[in-house]
Amino acid sequence: MFVSPVHHAREGSPDLSPTFSGLYQSRSPENPYVGRMETAGIFCSKPSEPILYKVRVTTGQGLLTGTFDVISITLVGTNGESTKQVLNRAGTSCSRGSVDDQDIACDHDLGSILLIRLHKDPYSFFPESSWFCNSVQVTSAQGECYLFPCYQWIEGYCTISLREGSAKTPSDDAHYLERRHRREELVMRHNKYGWKEYLPGVPCCADIDTALSLEYNLQYSFPKATAFFGRGTMAMFEAKVKGFLDKPFSWGKLEDIRKVFWFYHTPVTEYVFNHWKEDELFGYQFLNGINPGVIRKCTRIPENFPVTQEMVAGSLGKYTTLQEELKKGTIYLVDYKILEGVPTIQLNGKRQYIAAPLCLLHQKPSGEVIPLAIQLSQHPGIQSPVFLPTDEEWIWTLAKTWVRNAEFHTHEVIAHLLCSHLMAEVFSVATLRQLPMCHPLYKLLIPHLRYSIHINVLARTYLTNQGGIFDRAIAIGRQGLAVLLKKALENLTYTDLCFPDNIEARGVSLLQNYYYRDDGMKIWDAIESFVAGIVDLYYKNNLAVQRDYELQAWVCDIFSKGFLAKRSSGIPSSIRSVPELTKFLTMVIFTCSAQHAAVNSGQFELGAFMPNLPSSMRKPPPQVKAPITLEEFLDIIPEMNTTSQVLSVLWVLRNEDFDMKPLGQYHEEHFTEEEPKQLIKAFQRRLEHISEEIKHRNESLELPYTYLYPPNIENSTAI
Ligand code: FE2
Repeated sequence: MFVSPVHHAREGSPDLSPTFSGLYQSRSPENPYVGRMETAGIFCSKPSEPILYKVRVTTGQGLLTGTFDVISITLVGTNGESTKQVLNRAGTSCSRGSVDDQDIACDHDLGSILLIRLHKDPYSFFPESSWFCNSVQVTSAQGECYLFPCYQWIEGYCTISLREGSAKTPSDDAHYLERRHRREELVMRHNKYGWKEYLPGVPCCADIDTALSLEYNLQYSFPKATAFFGRGTMAMFEAKVKGFLDKPFSWGKLEDIRKVFWFYHTPVTEYVFNHWKEDELFGYQFLNGINPGVIRKCTRIPENFPVTQEMVAGSLGKYTTLQEELKKGTIYLVDYKILEGVPTIQLNGKRQYIAAPLCLLHQKPSGEVIPLAIQLSQHPGIQSPVFLPTDEEWIWTLAKTWVRNAEFHTHEVIAHLLCSHLMAEVFSVATLRQLPMCHPLYKLLIPHLRYSIHINVLARTYLTNQGGIFDRAIAIGRQGLAVLLKKALENLTYTDLCFPDNIEARGVSLLQNYYYRDDGMKIWDAIESFVAGIVDLYYKNNLAVQRDYELQAWVCDIFSKGFLAKRSSGIPSSIRSVPELTKFLTMVIFTCSAQHAAVNSGQFELGAFMPNLPSSMRKPPPQVKAPITLEEFLDIIPEMNTTSQVLSVLWVLRNEDFDMKPLGQYHEEHFTEEEPKQLIKAFQRRLEHISEEIKHRNESLELPYTYLYPPNIENSTAI
């Protein structure tokens, strides 16, 4: 996408224009090649009557999409090209939401129209104004219709070149102009979109330092940016007005924690406040909370977690035993070993702590999942007791709160940042670099990569930068973040990212009330079916997949820049067959849309009552089971200022309605052929059906699971 080579070619990159035969040009307003029929290598005799081509230009609906600049067009066909002809002057057309028709006269038949060039030149003394062009349609005198999808901002004075919209892999290009355009677009893309190291041992990111240096095409729309920064400002303002941001003190009462925000209470935040201490809500969140991908079936108690029958007899009841339940497959484990050895920082001048707990869970015949035992380190012993539900109320609550703190870190750093945001950025940069706009996979993927680079640039600017929120309010700080991300990438596998494989590997196929799995499987299947249809359209056999060098370069970029070429990850470095390609693309779309929604959407609701998701702990994990008081508990969880800062961020990162494109809704028609359009409609119908099923299921739930309700899932990782 985003062909605007003039203004974004990097310093030192080759000036493409002299060798581009007018396909990509940096000189404006005049193009020395325009009007020369020999550009196409063909001379035509002049007919007596001019031949008219009808041109329809559609401008985007968003704010400030129209332009006052002079827009002209050149048509390029198999029999030569037209002269450059003006489409508008000073805002008379190409205004916001306009559909402008104009006849273009040509002195000869151009043959099949392969390309168009759009020229944007200054008009009088008017300042330059960017233009968002949706598409251009060209109809010949014989009634042949050619569509040119654009869907991009055109910034500055320049010429861009667009191909006719049929999706084509490299081997589909029949005409030399198509092949040349393809080659030149890829050169431009390589020069324009680069990789850089984010942190050592962590997936690479886009070579963009600040949001200000983002081209328009990668930026949030005006409404989305306004909503994003508006929410952040309001949240910080409210916390500031109430004085919480200036109070490095413990909360006096649990009730006071709800006062961080006046207006942001929802049924779920109230439910959490009322039930946060209950074992049932604690267990439920492993299934349908914001980190639902860590629970695993346990068939044998780990050696470093010496839970005995006597310890859990009270929880299991007299009619069964731990051994029997292990055999039945109703015992589950959550192990936070990855947090072991991750450094922590000081907050408010005091050392903070994390733990690497183990938590054993049981699914009761009624379906509820409850904790049986918690150990707060990986090393059993006298200083690391096994905490039980039968322990004194606040020491048991404290043990669970330590697990919730481990959840905060593994969720934000691994499930949310690494497995959603950083992966989405890897897919985005690889797509921008390796696939031209005419490639079917570009057309398939681009709606699922919208805004992913921008949100990550914002995260690097405000959250994970030096002095950012990680350094101000989260136990591990930026230093621990780097360590944890590196460890997590070392452990990340292709299986983890492929939903059905992940469910099988964790042994959670039979876990009851696991709505994340149930809804996720349906959505994975729907995406897979849609993707399979697209792949079958453009790849007739495995050889076609193997020979698509653009596809192979794209996969290789993801393997080498996203997974740092770690073969042990199981991520393919090349794709050999149609089924492999379908699976890989399904993984990409699912990760960017549904998986991100599952881990992003509930952050504020489940974290608003801070003890349910504390970002830091101020004392080391307890080494004895001595009872503690509520006051002692409040002196361990985060202070007022730390709480306020984290909640402000979680509030901003909620899904928002502004400029949100739900899964399967493609407002930009990158595919112009009928078959993919039909596949999109079938995908939408299937998602509607899934929505109905989820809606019906949720009616009977005390706490409806809505994170994977298709209308709530954004097409891309955009927030
Ligand atoms: Fe997110």
